[in-house]
Formats: sequence, structure tokens, C-alpha cells
Amino acid sequence: MSGRIAVLASGVGSNAEALAEACEDGRIDGSLCVVVSNRPAAPVLARAAARGLPTLALDHRAYPDRAAFDAALNEALLPFAPDLVVLAGFMRILTPTFITPWRGRLVNIHPSLLPLYPGLDTHARALAAGDREAGATVHFVIEALDAGPAILQARVPIREGDDPGTLAARVQLEEHRIYPLAVQACLGGRVRLAGDRAELDGALLPPSGAEAAALAR
Ligand code: GRF
Repeated sequence: MSGRIAVLASGVGSNAEALAEACEDGRIDGSLCVVVSNRPAAPVLARAAARGLPTLALDHRAYPDRAAFDAALNEALLPFAPDLVVLAGFMRILTPTFITPWRGRLVNIHPSLLPLYPGLDTHARALAAGDREAGATVHFVIEALDAGPAILQARVPIREGDDPGTLAARVQLEEHRIYPLAVQACLGGRVRLAGDRAELDGALLPPSGAEAAALAR
């Protein structure tokens, strides 16, 4: 079965692009059924359109509150019938209005080794703390922000002289590698959300998620 993936993004869209490429070259058995942005001018929309992908702009400023936007977002996605909703730099805090109906079919990538550094400015915070390594985490989205169970993590070294920009670039290379692995594992049914824990092939995953090598098999 070929999976239908809805991507929600607010910015540049390099992760959306990495997922589209993985669909095209067969690493993901699926396709992007729609790319949605809450920012009508976000480059991700133009990049997706240039690939011939369906796009949708839903400006959050047109809604009185988060729940109203989330209800509209849910309605807008339904006609595309996604099997998986993938947050890729989607800079909106989602409420249960959206999360609950998609629970177990909603994943995010966060640029830190969660549970370290939920929220924003992760690279600057890792550098300020004197950390020796950083990374990215793909996780299921649950109602608490950046707190859902990890599916997969990638680690990178922090090097002498790094600034948030150089570190972000190193982490992003890993994001582009692991997000397709995690998305394929979810679509293929190998990874699932069981209560508040993630499972791989029926076994509970550790808090840091699966080994990338396991998902690449
Ligand atoms: C990524 O670093 C992701 O981890 C974070 O937002 C960034 C989005 O980058 N959540 P892009 O728009 O996919 O290039």
C-alpha cells in the first residue's frame, strides 16, 4: 500500500523536500498528498508547487484563536485523506483540537536530542550549555509540547567554533536522513504509538527511539 503523507511546514521546507525526494526514489512507499503552510509566503509552498505537489495555505492570522485554526486545519486535511501527518518546521503550537483526531498518525522532527531543549533556539541553548553533541529527534506528537515518544534520534558532534548556524546545518543533514526512515517505518506499520509509548515491530522503544540501522532494514 502506498501511503499518503500530508506535510505541514512554515518555512524553507528542506525537510519537506527531503521527504518528497525519498518518495520519488522509493525510500518511502508513498507520496506527499498535500503540503500545507500557515504562512502563505513560506518558501516551502513554492518549492512544493515546483515539484507539482498539491499545496494549501491556511493563514493562522485569519482565525480568532488556536482552537479555531486547528479545527480549520483538520477540516482542510480531511479531503486529502492522509495516512500520516508530518510536521516539518511547522511553527505553530497545536492544541488537542487537532492533535486528538490525528494521534498516532502525527509526527514531528525537533532539532535537539529530546528531552533536552524542547521549544525554540535549541542550537544556541546546546552551545550555551557547553554540550559536546547535539542532534534531532523524530517523535509522535502528543498533547504536551515536544514531549511525545521518540521514534528515532540522530546525534552529531558539537565542534570547536560552532555557532547556531553551523550546528543547525550539521543537524539538518541528519534530519534529512532520519525523517524519511521514520516516516517509512510509520507508514509501513512497523512503528506505532501504543498509549504514550512508541513501539517498533511490537516492542516498546527506548526513550531515545529506534536505531536508524533498525529502521533502514
Ligand atoms: C528544522 O530544523 C526542524 O527540525 C525544525 O524546523 C526546521 C525546519 O527546516 N522543526 P525546513 O523548513 O525543513 O528547512
